[in-house]
Amino acid sequence: MAATCVIGLQWGDEAKGKLVDLLAPRNDIVVRYQGGANAGHTVVCGSEVYKLHHIPSGILSSQITNVIAPGVVIEPNMLIKEIEGLEARGIEPRKNLIISERAHVVMPWHFVEDKATNRAVVAGESIGTTNRGIGPCYRDKVGRTHAMRITDLFSDQLKSKISDTVAAKRHMLSHLAEAADLESLDAEKIHEQCSRWAATLGSLSADTTNFLLDELDAGKRLLMEGAQGSLLDIDHGTYPFVTSSNASGVGVSAGSGVPAKWITNVIGVAKAYSTRVGGGPFPTELLDETGQRIREIGREYGTTTGRPRRCGWFDAVAVRYTARLSGIHYLSLMMMDVLSHFDTIQVCVAYELNGERINRFPCRAEDLRKCKPIYETLPGWNVDVSNVRNLVDFPSNARRYMDRISELISVPIGVLSVGPDREQTIFLI
Ligand code: IMP
Repeated sequence: MAATCVIGLQWGDEAKGKLVDLLAPRNDIVVRYQGGANAGHTVVCGSEVYKLHHIPSGILSSQITNVIAPGVVIEPNMLIKEIEGLEARGIEPRKNLIISERAHVVMPWHFVEDKATNRAVVAGESIGTTNRGIGPCYRDKVGRTHAMRITDLFSDQLKSKISDTVAAKRHMLSHLAEAADLESLDAEKIHEQCSRWAATLGSLSADTTNFLLDELDAGKRLLMEGAQGSLLDIDHGTYPFVTSSNASGVGVSAGSGVPAKWITNVIGVAKAYSTRVGGGPFPTELLDETGQRIREIGREYGTTTGRPRRCGWFDAVAVRYTARLSGIHYLSLMMMDVLSHFDTIQVCVAYELNGERINRFPCRAEDLRKCKPIYETLPGWNVDVSNVRNLVDFPSNARRYMDRISELISVPIGVLSVGPDREQTIFLI
């Protein structure tokens, strides 16, 4: 098996980090290929909890090489903090981490721009970004004229590039950003900071594209770690309430440089219910006590921003769409334990839009906002399943729930998760 992908099927936060950590030992290399510090992947190892933002979730195993590929946008201050945080806990990420020279850098002006534009209302609502400069950095990447890549940190022209860009950004942002934020864009200081980044990251940066192609030719196994979720995909998600990268399975090749011919296995990850952070339509959102209960039991607060996550029932219309889009072979169904104590559980099987029943996920956010979920009600199991370790030991109503989800999205379940620990995982494949 050449490359296995782990892809979120909802709006992110599906507990992909846990799955990647578990699958990593079966692979030689773990690759992050899109997104940046907007991601927050939690890995629990015994009593230790690790929160990773840029660094691939295979970093806890010293045998595994971890690659940050060109499609990721890197905020060096945060990446260095992450590296140092791991070192303080006895892990040695500098030994098994490689950063692409082609990856783009989130610069101080991107934070100013994100803050300034995040206030804007699009389609009646704010996007509610993570304020990590992600959108502005990707915007410059596509625009090219003001982009900064990791390789530029080592260039002789770094100083002039920074002063030109600072001048241009100050001009462009003069009507958008707050005066104090604009003042903070000091070319001299930014150049000093970049020189420090270069000194720290220099030994880690390399041509990861050729490295991965060589390793694949040599028979190595890759694990591709998706960030965010398919519904936040820039092209196929709930636009404009999305992130700025291809967060569905279609983004793997573009972001990593690994051609499709090597991708042999795609695992879709979904929670047994739904969550979303930030703005945008969310048909099954529960604004009542039940939503609050899911939030509290599931500890649904953002890893990156600490924001309370919006919670709701499982949306099979949305996940059927993303399972097809991401081309998944099987489903990893997470957080089954959170639904342990409900008398009944609802699953959205279709939407009602303008008086009509639809089974297709709409393309326009305005339409999705008008969709009313059509629910099927299933009996709850009212038993704590966090200690279950075999499929046969699940209460029959929990089995019924999983079978129905699998049937609705037309994909078999391959993994079940009943808690944050590694042991609380049941592999069915
Ligand atoms: P950005 O990626 O910071 O530009 O944010 C765009 C949208 O994606 C916002 O609604 C964020 O809350 C959401 N988002 C970004 N990253 C994540 C993530 O890792 N998990 C969940 N939502 C995310």
